[in-house]
Amino acid sequence: MAGGGGTNALVVHVTGARPNFPKAAPVIRALAELDVPQLLVHTGQHYDERMSEVFFRELDLPRPDVNLGVGSGTHAEQTGSIMVGLERFVIEHTPDLIIVYGDVNSTVAAALVAAKLQIPLAHVEAGLRSFDWSMPEEVNRVVTDRLADMLFVTSPDAIANLGNEGCHPNKIFFVGNPMIDTLLANIDRFDPEAARRAHGLPDKYVVATLHRPANVDKPADAQALVKAMHAVADQVDVLIPLHPRGRARLGEAGLDRHSRVRIIDPIGYVDFISAVRGAAVVVTDSGGIQEEATILGVPCLTLRPNTERPVTITHGTNRLVMRESLADQVAAALAAGRPTTWPVPPLWDGQAGRRIAEAVVG
Ligand code: UD1
Repeated sequence: MAGGGGTNALVVHVTGARPNFPKAAPVIRALAELDVPQLLVHTGQHYDERMSEVFFRELDLPRPDVNLGVGSGTHAEQTGSIMVGLERFVIEHTPDLIIVYGDVNSTVAAALVAAKLQIPLAHVEAGLRSFDWSMPEEVNRVVTDRLADMLFVTSPDAIANLGNEGCHPNKIFFVGNPMIDTLLANIDRFDPEAARRAHGLPDKYVVATLHRPANVDKPADAQALVKAMHAVADQVDVLIPLHPRGRARLGEAGLDRHSRVRIIDPIGYVDFISAVRGAAVVVTDSGGIQEEATILGVPCLTLRPNTERPVTITHGTNRLVMRESLADQVAAALAAGRPTTWPVPPLWDGQAGRRIAEAVVG
């Protein structure tokens, strides 16, 4: 183990926001199979039942050993509260390794705590770069990677990014994508027919998720986005499980004022991926959904000027789109239909959790 603590060395996982949970689940499971003692921290960054608890149930995650209960706030409030709570927990339990996931505020807060307490740190999903410093996630990624001792990467571009930043190759482990482990492990549970019935959808529909600050925080952006989504809904029914972040602004901008737009609360993992699996097209500004659509072979239009996941474009079904051209791109994707074959990124084979656990045990 990186901490040199032997086979009884203790691993602490830090999770907190919705996208962390499907990434942590296969790593926790694989370490349990190797009898590695583990503790699970939930920072409480996400706290609604449908943003957190439903994932623990559906993915069979162990109960967190502690929930720091930090909740929402400004970046400094949230990051600082996580650091204070986590520092106390880490001093009490003296882990040999802390594992963090993805690029959320819980990730960077835990990385800072580990570095200051000189606890070895592993980062799952290291090396992704959008090169867009206006994204809070980009700050979180770069800082976390700079502090990490073990960098578990999901794609070759991430290895190159870390190399360009001077990261020593000995620290980098190309392991594949643990979120795709979770997708493949649950593939038989994703039932598009059940999703159609549950949400009253016709055969052909679009699933959209919208929550990036750059798309939903300012009224002018929200209005432009609503216009683009309504132009999509002129062609096809649209299901939008709406993240709480965008609810107020998109509501004020009249997102629900179209007969073919169906806005629902966030839904659980199985329901959501079932709906994506049956969709003609996915429209999103999320990171993870670009990857999930790639494996499911569903055309994905990403409403962003850049992506930290270029492998989903070179090897998958993803394409970056502007709001102004979204409706045309949806029309083209509907006309082209689903791809029958498409390349899959290397090592996205359901074994990433096992590879990470083996590297941790060393
Ligand atoms: C966070 C991540 C983002 C990720 C997203 C996935 C950061 C900087 N951003 O963004 O990378 O894509 O999670 O969901 O960490 N809220 C609720 N209930 C909850 C959680 C949040 O209502 O359970 C609302 C609150 O109004 C809160 C807002 O959503 O202020 C934003 O939550 P926050 O965790 O700060 O960021 P996200 O937008 O969720």
